[in-house]
Amino acid sequence: MCGIVGAVAARHVQEILLEGLRRLEYRGYDSAGMAVLSDDARLNRQRAVGKVAALEEKLEGNALKGNLGIAHTRWATHGRPSEQNAHPHQSGDSLAVVHNGIIENHEALKGELEAQGYVFTSETDTEVIAHLLSREFTLAQDLLQAVQRSVALLEGAYALAVMHRAQPDVVIGARKGSPLVVGVGIGEAFLASDPLALLQVTDRFIYMQEGDVVRLSQGGSIELFDAGGERVERPAQIFEHGDGVTSKGGYRHFMLKEIHEQSQVIAATLEGRLGDHQVLVNSFGTDAEQLFQGVRQVHIIACGTSYHAGMVARYWIEKLAGVPTQVEVASEYRYREVVVPEGTLFVTLSQSGETADTLAALRFAKQRDYRGSLAICNVPGSSLVRESDLTLMTQAGPEIGVASTKAFTTQLVALMLLALALGRVRGANGEHAPIVQGLRELPGVINQVLALDGEIERLSMAFAEKHHALFLGRGAHFPIAQEGALKLKEISYIHAEAYPAGELKHGPLALVDSEMPVIAVAPNDELLEKLKSNLQEVRARGGELFVFADESIRMETNEHLHVLRVPAISEALAPIVYTIPLQLLAYHVAVLKGTDVDQPRNLAKSVTVE
Ligand code: G6P
Repeated sequence: MCGIVGAVAARHVQEILLEGLRRLEYRGYDSAGMAVLSDDARLNRQRAVGKVAALEEKLEGNALKGNLGIAHTRWATHGRPSEQNAHPHQSGDSLAVVHNGIIENHEALKGELEAQGYVFTSETDTEVIAHLLSREFTLAQDLLQAVQRSVALLEGAYALAVMHRAQPDVVIGARKGSPLVVGVGIGEAFLASDPLALLQVTDRFIYMQEGDVVRLSQGGSIELFDAGGERVERPAQIFEHGDGVTSKGGYRHFMLKEIHEQSQVIAATLEGRLGDHQVLVNSFGTDAEQLFQGVRQVHIIACGTSYHAGMVARYWIEKLAGVPTQVEVASEYRYREVVVPEGTLFVTLSQSGETADTLAALRFAKQRDYRGSLAICNVPGSSLVRESDLTLMTQAGPEIGVASTKAFTTQLVALMLLALALGRVRGANGEHAPIVQGLRELPGVINQVLALDGEIERLSMAFAEKHHALFLGRGAHFPIAQEGALKLKEISYIHAEAYPAGELKHGPLALVDSEMPVIAVAPNDELLEKLKSNLQEVRARGGELFVFADESIRMETNEHLHVLRVPAISEALAPIVYTIPLQLLAYHVAVLKGTDVDQPRNLAKSVTVE
């Protein structure tokens, strides 16, 4: 999704901005651009369709020299990907702006501005902001005031960075509904939509809040103003994950690196949260125990991969805590008449903490009679974290591959902690100790599964020429099958669907033939025998079966049956373990097909528009 970088530095900023854009590439985008204010106060701009490398090529031999600049990666919403629609957008040759988000009243504003003589050259909603800012600058003769007056007229979501040649020593930033952080340098100051973009220049960040406007001035001065225009101080926080997270560390792709980090990040997510035999309920916050005691229902809301984690949690919370649980995708939940029974806990799951629909669902829920809200999230300081009553941070570290892997398994671990914590406050006493012990041993088991990589790579060859695939699972492994199908379609572009295995004969069996590989998730649980009969139905129709099965199951590989033996694991924790071979399968199929594994076409890492 769109990315912003801005800099007010003691040196030329082109390289800082370019490096920032490269670090934002993982979010998904289709064009890139940059504007720099030269020492003689001229605005120079360069834009290119495609990758940041295309912009870089244009800048070679044609460098943008100057100490102030703004840059952007665009993911098309209003208007196709083209150079004209790429940011920065200008109003004449005086003002440049980059924007993330969507301006909902852009048509009305455009009509008004056109009537006042402003000429539009793009199809974007952002150009409206450029002209609006220019108009307000003419009236106020001050860029900060022009931004404050303009944002008051905008409806929708925005993060902005703005420069004007009449004030060649300031960059103004503003946010509402889209994230923006200030990077604190020594005698320098920076802006970005994601701290990762700036780790090459600083590890100190101020997280701007809704409605904040900031003025960065030459010399490193940072002045923040809240939505009411009052000067405010917000503390700078040290970014903890270090810079190594944004390199591939010897792996061919970020996705593979992140798959292999899973045992380590799961251990980090468990750290400090387990007692001898029980989960520590106050891991969810000091008020958690009291809040959880009154919980009679749980509503879980999320999007994409995070939604699949929620689907698994439903089985866990109902089984281990006896609390009825509903799970729904955020974009559906927020548009229906939701009935909230007394004592309902509202839980959001999100890697980024900025997904527009999930955030809107939280705000919608806060208007209703929930007992409280809990966010399970991977990004400290994100909007979801700030706006929830309770939070549990996953410790996946920055995830760069668009297809989520380690964020998903750490969410599952966090959700198991939630199920155990709810069970504990409702009187479970000691009977969950084996699961707590299993969690401690989980990182070791994950390492054993990762050692199956070579075997899975060999299996993947059977998929490279296929156009469709069917994933089957039962119980808590149905959402794991869904996640496996999602991974395969996201990065290999093979159409994949998942079904609860019991539904096979109610439709999808009609599709099964030798051209449709069928992947079954078969842990050794109470549904195993039923799953085996479902698999017979596939074999009888000439289907090619790939079974990921517990090593204790008696099932031998033969001509049309490929068995991958997965280390034995308790029923409760099996969904976490069985996720990993499915991630590796999708990864190797995508590599064989030669797709862009880390940045699949049309997808974005963080979807900050509805
Ligand atoms: C996008 C990403 C997915 C992610 C989903 C939800 O679609 O490509 O990988 O699962 O957003 O994101 P969140 O940050 O809320 O978990």
